[in-house]
Amino acid sequence: MPLITWDEIMSVGVEELDDQHRRLIDLINDAYEALQSHDEHRMVELVEKMQQYARTHFETEENYMRRDGFPGLSRHKGLHETFNRSVAQFRAEQYGGMNLSKIFVFLSRWLATHILEADKEYVPYLAAGKKPA
Ligand SMILES: [Fe+2]
Repeated sequence: MPLITWDEIMSVGVEELDDQHRRLIDLINDAYEALQSHDEHRMVELVEKMQQYARTHFETEENYMRRDGFPGLSRHKGLHETFNRSVAQFRAEQYGGMNLSKIFVFLSRWLATHILEADKEYVPYLAAGKKPA
């Protein structure tokens, strides 16, 4: 059973961003499965994938915010940077025997609360259904 299921309540009103959030949730669920089956190799792979995909997603999200003049852009960018730094640190430590379940709990909590709370702040500023030029 997946750990997190996409729900309309998570929607930010922009299809492209919702799709990317869904993809991130899929990755969390895959990592949860790998963790449960003690598949360390797959876990490491998924953490790397999540890091890459989150980068792409953050960039897309920030482009929308910039286009629509979201006043919380620099604070929000800071949240994204903290995430990138934490994941990079996990990856560096992981080769020294870092606890993978700890990494997983951090990533899944961070992404879920970020989508549900921080991302909601820009919803009123983004014009639905339009791609940044
Ligand atoms: Fe965000």
